[in-house]
Amino acid sequence: MWPGERTRGRIMDGMDTSIFNDPVVVRKFLPDDLQAALEIDREVFGGYNPAIFTAFYEYHSVSTLVADLGGTVAGFVLGFKHTPFEGRVFWLAVRPGFQNRGIGTRLMLEVLRSFRQMGAMSATLEVRVSNKKAQSLYSMLGFRMMGICPAYYTDGEAAIIMRMRL
Ligand SMILES: CC(C)(COP(=O)(O)OP(=O)(O)OC[C@H]1O[C@@H](n2cnc3c(N)ncnc32)[C@H](O)[C@@H]1OP(=O)(O)O)[C@@H](O)C(=O)NCCC(=O)NCCS
Repeated sequence: MWPGERTRGRIMDGMDTSIFNDPVVVRKFLPDDLQAALEIDREVFGGYNPAIFTAFYEYHSVSTLVADLGGTVAGFVLGFKHTPFEGRVFWLAVRPGFQNRGIGTRLMLEVLRSFRQMGAMSATLEVRVSNKKAQSLYSMLGFRMMGICPAYYTDGEAAIIMRMRL
C-alpha cells in the first residue's frame, strides 16, 4: 500500500461529503482573480511566472478553477486535458490560512469533474516526494503511484507520478 493511503475509499463515489458543508464556492478563474492567485502562488510556491495563469485562463478555462469564500480567493487549481482521454493536474494551492478545511479536496473534486465532462478517462499529476500532505490528499481521492521521475524539479527533487481512473 502506498504510504498515507487511506481506507476511506474514494470520496468521488459519493461518500464522506459532510466536511464540505461550508460556504466555499469552486468556480472558474476570472481575470480579476489574477492578483489573489499570484499572492497565493507567492506564499505557497515562492512565485512563478504570472503568464501561466493567463495561459490557463485562455486555453483551459473549464479546468482553471478558484475556491471563493465570500469573495476571497482561498486557493486555485490549474488543470488541462493533455491527451484526448487524460486530464492533468498542473498546479494546486490553498492559501496557508485556509488549509485543512477541505478546500484542496473541493478544488480537486471539481477539476476531476471537469476532466470527466471533457471525456477524459484518467487523470495524472506529479508531486514532490517530500510533499506527504498532497500525496495523502491525492491517495484519498483515488490516485495511485505510477512511478518516480528523478530530479524532476529544478532544485533536483524527484517527483512521484500519480494516476487515477475517472
Ligand atoms: C496540498 C494542499 C493543496 C492541500 O490543501 P488543503 O485545503 O489543506 O487540503 P484539505 O483541507 O482538503 O485536506 C488536507 C487535510 O485536511 C483534512 N480536512 C479536510 N477537511 C477538513 C475539515 N473540514 N476539518 C478538518 N480537517 C479537514 C483532510 O482530511 C486532510 O487531512 P490529511 O492531511 O491528514 O490528509 C495545501 O496544503 C497546499 O496548498 N500546499 C502547498 C502547495 C502544494 O503542496 N500543492 C500541491 C503540489 S502537487
